[in-house]
Amino acid sequence: MQIIRAKPEDADTLTEIAFAAKRHWGYPEDWIEAWCDILTMRPHFIASNVAYCAIEAERAVGFYVLTTENDGLHLDHLWIVPSAMRRGIGRALFEHATAQAGNSGFDSIKIEADPNAEGFYKRMGATRAGTRVSEADGERRALPLLEFHVPRPT
Ligand SMILES: CC(C)(COP(=O)(O)OP(=O)(O)OC[C@H]1O[C@@H](n2cnc3c(N)ncnc32)[C@H](O)[C@@H]1OP(=O)(O)O)[C@@H](O)C(=O)NCCC(=O)NCCS
Repeated sequence: MQIIRAKPEDADTLTEIAFAAKRHWGYPEDWIEAWCDILTMRPHFIASNVAYCAIEAERAVGFYVLTTENDGLHLDHLWIVPSAMRRGIGRALFEHATAQAGNSGFDSIKIEADPNAEGFYKRMGATRAGTRVSEADGERRALPLLEFHVPRPT
């Protein structure tokens, strides 16, 4: 498995990965439709942020995007195709993202997680920093806000 910089022309492939990964949690299709905008990766978004994908057998199997907001660095996306989950690719991408953050001088990464992914982020060393209440199709959802403290590069 290789981790390489994502290119604007990868947008459609990365969008497919994001939809497949989100569907993996079994959300109703109308929720998936409501999240269409968030799950759609656009060429300009990939070009203007720190986006990397994991490649296996010449196929993208996962990716992440780091974005810089007013309040610091955010892990905006981290998605693995269901067929490649639980094989260490999420960890490899997360560790790659934290190294990028450290090399760019950031000391923390903020993450607004899917509730099903909170255990993964905690396993990676992130800690719970709060909750954001949102709504999907009229249903209240509590989204875990996590923070990862980036070790100083040695
Ligand atoms: C969450 C996700 C990124 C994890 O990636 P992955 O490649 O399956 O995870 P890994 O195999 O690298 O797992 C690393 C460790 O985390 C644990 N882990 C993985 N997913 C977990 C989960 N959902 N809950 C708790 N622990 C989890 C693994 O058991 C492993 O533990 P270990 O250190 O004891 O071996 C991936 O399942 C995914 O894309 N899910 C759907 C989309 C999503 O919700 N993404 C996050 C958006 S906020």
